[in-house]
Amino acid sequence: MTEYDRANFTGVYEGQSLVESVSITEVPWEIGQPQPVVGAVLKDLRPGRLLDVGCGLGRNAKLASDYGHDVVAIDISATAINKCLDLYSNSGIQFYNLDACNTGLAMKFDVILDSATYHAIPKHKRIKYLREMSRLAFEETTLHLITFAASDHGMPKPLASELSDIAETVESGGWQIELAERVEYKGNAAAIEEFRKKKGLNIRLDGNGRTRLPAWHLSLRLSQS
Ligand SMILES: C[S@@+](CC[C@H](N)C(=O)[O-])C[C@H]1O[C@@H](n2cnc3c(N)ncnc32)[C@H](O)[C@@H]1O
Repeated sequence: MTEYDRANFTGVYEGQSLVESVSITEVPWEIGQPQPVVGAVLKDLRPGRLLDVGCGLGRNAKLASDYGHDVVAIDISATAINKCLDLYSNSGIQFYNLDACNTGLAMKFDVILDSATYHAIPKHKRIKYLREMSRLAFEETTLHLITFAASDHGMPKPLASELSDIAETVESGGWQIELAERVEYKGNAAAIEEFRKKKGLNIRLDGNGRTRLPAWHLSLRLSQS
């Protein structure tokens, strides 16, 4: 188990540190708006039933809802879900406090969105997670997976992954990669400053002072069996 596997996803939404070795008490992925890369994905999609897995503070789910999707959004953090319920009470989005590895949901989705949740799930649980997502998918469903890419300017391994590693996990989880593109995931630079220094990371910032974390956007389809 790494310290990332023990990340405190409930605590970080309550002002506690996300990981044990350094103080990360602001939510590092909270940028006051939806992730730009998610916006780019959503603008090209036909509205349908969409599952946002690991929705955090719900900004991506709200954007999907604004685009006309019928959105179900889940997170393992009860605190995050309660905040979403307060923030978006009239949005029509269904927010649930569920573990993505075993949701218990009894419906299928046209689109599944994973914005930086895959790498938040411990490595040994990722195949189980992807199999659970395959249970919630139609044959033509696309799973959009956005996750940290191994890079000199990114997050350390095992938070960040090589494409070959992700491909192996994805295939074991019942999916195949249809498209892979390099993108950036934006984050709160101040939140991870102590972490960046301690780990000696060379992370670039954009014009608004946000972290530009190298990531993969993968479009996944169910494997043909
Ligand atoms: C890096 S954050 C990304 C949040 C959001 N998707 C975004 O892009 O702003 C990862 C989120 O996944 C959630 N998470 C971690 N493990 C999970 C699991 N097993 N099931 C559901 N959510 C999980 C965390 O609580 C956190 O909110």
